[in-house]
Amino acid sequence: MDGVKVIADGMRREIDAGKEIGLKYVSSRCSISEMDDHDLSKLLDKPRLKMERKRSFDERSLSELTTGLHRGLESYESAYSPGRSTPDTPPSAGSFFEPHPIVGDAWEALRRSLVYFRAQPVGTIAADDHASEEVLNYDQVFVRDFVPSALAFLMNGEPDIVKNFLLKTLQLQGWEKRIDRFKLGEGVMSASFKVLHNPIRKTETIIADFGESAIGRVAPVDSGFWWIILLRAYTKSTGDQSLAETPECQKGMRLILALCLSEGFDTFPTLLCADGCSMIDRRMGIYGYPIEIQALFFMALRSALLMLKPDQEGKEFIERIVKRLHALSYHMRSYFWLDFQRLNDIYRYKTEEYSHTAVNKFNVIPDSIPDWVFDFMPMRGGYFIGNVSPARMDFRWFALGNCIAILSSLATPEQASAVMDLIEARWEELVGEMPLKICYPALESHEWRIVTGCDPKNTRWSYHNGGSWPVLLWMLTAACIKTGRIQIARQAIDLAESRLLKDSWPEYYDGKLGRYIGKQARKYQTWSIAGYLVAKMMLEDPSNLGMISLEEDKQRKHVIRRSSSWTC
Ligand code: GLC
Repeated sequence: MDGVKVIADGMRREIDAGKEIGLKYVSSRCSISEMDDHDLSKLLDKPRLKMERKRSFDERSLSELTTGLHRGLESYESAYSPGRSTPDTPPSAGSFFEPHPIVGDAWEALRRSLVYFRAQPVGTIAADDHASEEVLNYDQVFVRDFVPSALAFLMNGEPDIVKNFLLKTLQLQGWEKRIDRFKLGEGVMSASFKVLHNPIRKTETIIADFGESAIGRVAPVDSGFWWIILLRAYTKSTGDQSLAETPECQKGMRLILALCLSEGFDTFPTLLCADGCSMIDRRMGIYGYPIEIQALFFMALRSALLMLKPDQEGKEFIERIVKRLHALSYHMRSYFWLDFQRLNDIYRYKTEEYSHTAVNKFNVIPDSIPDWVFDFMPMRGGYFIGNVSPARMDFRWFALGNCIAILSSLATPEQASAVMDLIEARWEELVGEMPLKICYPALESHEWRIVTGCDPKNTRWSYHNGGSWPVLLWMLTAACIKTGRIQIARQAIDLAESRLLKDSWPEYYDGKLGRYIGKQARKYQTWSIAGYLVAKMMLEDPSNLGMISLEEDKQRKHVIRRSSSWTC
């Protein structure tokens, strides 16, 4: 573990330097004050990192988590009795819970969506909608779409398909990727792939899309992150570390990390992205530093840290990850966080400040704060805003980024509770009649024309522009369990249950309340189906949360805090 020693020494030096120049340590907001400890405590204690790596996969941390959760859930389920179900038997059927009648239908639909390559299941198709005239690429296996399917299979004790998927996509990563005459980075993971059957020759081949066929020609930044997160979920759920430890998986991780940890002109630890590089894969004004990517980036870094071997090649990455996590959590928790107090501070910002003493570091002009946010912001609650870059704060609320921030512990426990408070306080706006709004509010009129480029699919309160996506239910449920807010999850699941099967599992809903099936929504959208099943299974057996959640490092307390990211 020489690498760890190097990091620990390096960090000690940083702290000493901090003392020497007399840094003031922040304490004004819990959100900022707790963050720096995270990596420091890990690193200053050499053996602890080693222990962390082992602990992450053992049952102990899982049972710790469940014990805590069960305490919180006592009123909810007094007769809780888990027991892993055998393959093919949805867990709902064997537990004390009365399975909802649509659970069986959901499992059937999920199994129908399986895609096989040479007789092995390798993924699930995005949508199995025979009625739709336009297939587009919905007949492909999308990396991000497969995540809830994978979790459902893992929770049901069927890890093989997940392993096949991880290996197949890893193989595709090795392909040479070109758009016109330009060669893409080696580590880019495909957005999707498709199995082609040739009935005459009786052969099967795979084609993959790394952005060169995608609408807008954008490479998916999220795919690689989801891949790492899923590899950790697989490892955590099965206890099988051998897959993550193979030279192939280690190399796959390093290639992804090399892409996002490379040095450049950046002054921020966040990752600079093009519009449309994630779940929101069309122009929606999320270019820059979108919260979705930053939260996934953080979670992937933390997951990789648990799986990378500290060998010759891995060591260097471990060191870079630790440094990046340190800076990233500081940046996100300070500058992306918005609550009533902070909104008021920004509202009163002075502009054109120069030098390190500037309060308004990014020169945000208070007049650019949209009117809606003053009404939307409750007295209790807060959230990570959509984007922060020079003179630009995108105040929109994005569901995925905020849920992943909670699950990855990018959010401090206080911030995580505040996000849940906000969801509760703004239930009508964010949940309405169908969980969950992908973002809030919708862009309208002139703004819609400018920002989306007049996109007819992304009209107000539809699709990516304020539409309601059932797939987000699993992330909301996971965040609820993690923060002990089970009631919120139950209400959201009740809403979804009353419509999803009846409406044939739509991809998204439209309208301010999410009442109408989306104008161009696919039916039998697999991640709507899988997302529902995962939400149900997590609520029934909260220990399932462990595979998709990273605990906050308890050792973080009482470590020196620093005041400014510029001193990193
Ligand atoms: C749409 C969504 C994208 C999803 C894909 C397949 O393009 O915007 O997030 O992965 O459909 O379902």
